[in-house]
Amino acid sequence: MRAIPTDRGTCPFDPPAGMADEPLSKVRLANGDQVWLVARHDLVRQVLADTRFSSEIDGGFLGAPLRAVEPDPGMFIQMDPPRHTRLRRLMTGRFTVQRMNRLRPRVEQIVTDTLDALEQRPRPADLVEEFALPIPSLVICELLGVPYAEREEFQHASAKILSLTTTVEEQEATLIRLAGYLAELIARKRAEPGEGLLDDLLDTDLTDDELIGVAVLMLIAGHETTANMLSLGTLLLLHHPEQLALVRQSPEAAKTAVDELLRYLSIVDVGMYRRAGTDLELNGQVIPEGDFVTCSLASANRDPALLDRPDELRVTRPKTPHVAFGFGPHQCIGQNLARMEMEIAYPALFRRLPGLRLAVPLEKVPFKNDMAIYGVHRLEVEW
Ligand code: HEM
Repeated sequence: MRAIPTDRGTCPFDPPAGMADEPLSKVRLANGDQVWLVARHDLVRQVLADTRFSSEIDGGFLGAPLRAVEPDPGMFIQMDPPRHTRLRRLMTGRFTVQRMNRLRPRVEQIVTDTLDALEQRPRPADLVEEFALPIPSLVICELLGVPYAEREEFQHASAKILSLTTTVEEQEATLIRLAGYLAELIARKRAEPGEGLLDDLLDTDLTDDELIGVAVLMLIAGHETTANMLSLGTLLLLHHPEQLALVRQSPEAAKTAVDELLRYLSIVDVGMYRRAGTDLELNGQVIPEGDFVTCSLASANRDPALLDRPDELRVTRPKTPHVAFGFGPHQCIGQNLARMEMEIAYPALFRRLPGLRLAVPLEKVPFKNDMAIYGVHRLEVEW
């Protein structure tokens, strides 16, 4: 049995070579687990839409074996119906277009302030540290309703949880501290409610543990994903000057570019697993109960059946039904927020720093071939 392809070495912006060789095949993970790899757009959507494939699992990375688990309170990304449905419904009702519109001026201000600070930095500067990471972190604070004065601590904790150089023990300790902080914040909000999403959720039947779980999920699901898109998307545009020129010149192209970058880069690829809850048939193949399945979102998004010339980056492309945000009942709840952040941040960056360029050759950029979510560890830039 072949190992799951992981190396994006041939071209750092393409899916790993060999990923889409077969629409459905059995592959071996680095930890020795065997899983079904689904690599065609229609099949990926079929799996993700079918709740007989369970999400109540853990493992798959860094040697941890895949196994069925009882989800932690509030972590609805890891839940099946009906408990998933209950939490998801509560959240979608509050992740409204109105709330997103209310956030827009705040996101614009956060981007402006971040660029003001970046401009003062010595050059070359690391665009990941100075631009891509702080923006989504501050936006999540805004969304949840974390008070200004406490954001530094919150941001510090989230940076620590996401950092590669933090040990597992340090990450756990930070998570416990963060949960403690959130418990205390929720108690204060119960006494004096504010305007954030957490405040909105106070008058539901969610327990404090569930509220903390939801807040931590938002932080983890919404922070590094958006940060990786901001840095990797910038790098891809710098690598395609003719496409970058379109983004600079046309507000319309700056808007359509966001979904094309999401599709083209598919930073979440084979990172999500499902477990067959019963014997199932897929593409004429029986998937026995208990087998694990993973979907290559990157292969699905480059499927020639989905669009014309899938390997070409074209920022003015009409929107395609790509699966960069997943599909079905677990489809990303923060997708409109992520889109808004990108729609504001990319053009603002290119406007503010017209001479923006890489400070090192592309071969020297450290790509995240070792991570569940693809991106770059650092992006040294000049302007
Ligand atoms: C470019 C940025 C993002 C990408 C590429 C992305 C991608 C994804 C994907 C692929 C899933 C599906 C997981 C699955 O099926 O198991 C997902 C779910 C989720 N995302 Fe995002 N995401 C992004 C930004 C965000 C943001 C900004 C937030 C919140 C503020 C967020 C919150 C969530 C949550 C809560 C779920 C779980 C939904 C559920 O299980 O019902 N994401 N995301």
